[in-house]
Amino acid sequence: MNAIVKTDFQIPGVKKIHTGKVRDIYEVEGKDLLVVIATDRISAFDVVLPVGIPFKGSVLNEVAFDFLGKAEAAGICDTWIVNKIHPMVTVGRKVKPFAIEMIVRGYLTGSLWREYNKGVRQICGLTLPDGMEEFEMFEMPIVTPTTKAENGHDENISPEEIVAQGLATKEEYEEMENVAIQLFDMGTEVAYKKGLILVDTKYEFGKTDCGEIILIDELHTPDSSRYWYEDSYWTAKTPRSLDKEFVRQWLISQGFKGEKNQQMPEFTKEFVEEISERYLELYDNIMGEKLVKTDYSLEEIEAAIKDFIEGMEEVEHPKTD
Ligand SMILES: Nc1ncnc2c1ncn2[C@@H]1O[C@H](COP(=O)(O)OP(=O)(O)O)[C@@H](O)[C@H]1O
Ligand SMILES: [Mg+2]
Repeated sequence: MNAIVKTDFQIPGVKKIHTGKVRDIYEVEGKDLLVVIATDRISAFDVVLPVGIPFKGSVLNEVAFDFLGKAEAAGICDTWIVNKIHPMVTVGRKVKPFAIEMIVRGYLTGSLWREYNKGVRQICGLTLPDGMEEFEMFEMPIVTPTTKAENGHDENISPEEIVAQGLATKEEYEEMENVAIQLFDMGTEVAYKKGLILVDTKYEFGKTDCGEIILIDELHTPDSSRYWYEDSYWTAKTPRSLDKEFVRQWLISQGFKGEKNQQMPEFTKEFVEEISERYLELYDNIMGEKLVKTDYSLEEIEAAIKDFIEGMEEVEHPKTD
């Protein structure tokens, strides 16, 4: 099993502009088009871990592409996607991202539960009711936006502060909030039919040159979302999760929380395989079919990008002979 953790393609007209925690972003020069490669990198606590997870990139790219298509088909919002040119690569519109992440939560868990348990009731301009228990469902899904930090951790922020800081206008924020709730409802419905609960997730939006707000980045993937098995929610003390929460828990058990100067624990081959299996399990569940496990090579991915660029040039400059 192979894992792709780094790309460095030298393709004329295509330039690498950003290395995210998980994705490598290339730009088609002069076109406002992005070529986004979902690599097999994995991050936790905003730190890229020193291992690659086989098939993770394909799982993320395929699941995101499928959900982005569903969002458009349902008429919820326009998205950045143009084409999936390889199981690990999507081409789409480059837009100006809003510097916030829209987090929608259906249940009290994770970092919000830790805050709540300490007595915090005010969050992102909302007041949470007293007496809630861990994993309890909110009456209605709540939106808890965060800042999008270049480096380090994202911070909670209220809609008022977002507007005051000029991160979005009131109208823009309201539109994003409204779309985020609709997306969450759509994701919840898809998950529910597969015996899963979409617990919480994050959305990112960007603005086109014409001022249209579109959905960017990934959608309802196991990196951006928490999923629980629905049956375990009712039967188990802790719902069985299908996302990377168990990786975070393992890191914590090894004394690592992503803080500065903390030693990164050793990942065994077996543990990496287990993580890979979890991503595949989520894919199988949410897509209703097994992912065909394929070890893609860097050469194949590069060839797919070159084919796409050549195809694009042919459309623009058709051969007349
Ligand atoms: N259509 C788009 N236009 C501009 N930026 C985008 C678009 N889609 C995704 N991005 C940005 O590309 C990056 C995706 O790479 P990722 O590895 O997820 O990065 P991060 O470490 O920021 O999570 C994110 O910073 C995201 O905001
Ligand atoms: Mg990301």
